[in-house]
Amino acid sequence: MNGSDFVIDPRVTGFVRLDLAKLFGNRNRAVLEIGSGKGRFLIAGAAEQPGVNFIGIEKSLHYHRLIRDRVTKRGLDNIRLVNHDAFLVLRDMLANASIDEIHVYFPDPWPRKREQKRRIIRAEVLTEIRRVLVPGGSGIYVTDHRQYYEAAAPVIEQFFRSERRIPSADDPPRTNYEAKYREEGREIFEVRFWA
Ligand SMILES: C[S@@+](CC[C@H](N)C(=O)[O-])C[C@H]1O[C@@H](n2cnc3c(N)ncnc32)[C@H](O)[C@@H]1O
Repeated sequence: MNGSDFVIDPRVTGFVRLDLAKLFGNRNRAVLEIGSGKGRFLIAGAAEQPGVNFIGIEKSLHYHRLIRDRVTKRGLDNIRLVNHDAFLVLRDMLANASIDEIHVYFPDPWPRKREQKRRIIRAEVLTEIRRVLVPGGSGIYVTDHRQYYEAAAPVIEQFFRSERRIPSADDPPRTNYEAKYREEGREIFEVRFWA
């Protein structure tokens, strides 16, 4: 990869459907993360599993640049990044049955009533998640926010076969927020789901 070739910028390309085989130069499994933050999950995953393709969607330009620099430094060629709103990327850029796993760690909880429509776990986003997952594909949603969890878990259950779980204290933290919240002793809630 040269420079930032691993960055897909819909402001330049338009919201075109991505051909993942072309984009990665292979037909390996694809793992998508929504809201990658500082990129811990993506970078650890891509380094440990070079035969898996990772796509990170991160809305914040600050975090996007941070991940981009970390990917460049590590020379990982199995990551692609998109700096945009995940709903639009899912809806307009990802093809049907193109993703094997979707991970959503500690999405912004938007606790105020009038802002809850912005939550990433909502019906219109789950419709797209269901469309892009391959048959038998899976997903994970993790949060420390009990009210968000209690609202989101039943919506996920409407779309997928799913299982609620409380991650064990022995499970290694997957992201920066998880590491921080574990240290603080916060409760963490998880839903795993299958297409
Ligand atoms: C609370 S942070 C969690 C970061 C990381 N997943 C972790 O667990 O450490 C939520 C992240 O999701 C990103 N985000 C929020 N809404 C988003 C959206 N609609 N599309 C893509 N990213 C989004 C934010 O910019 C932020 O980086």
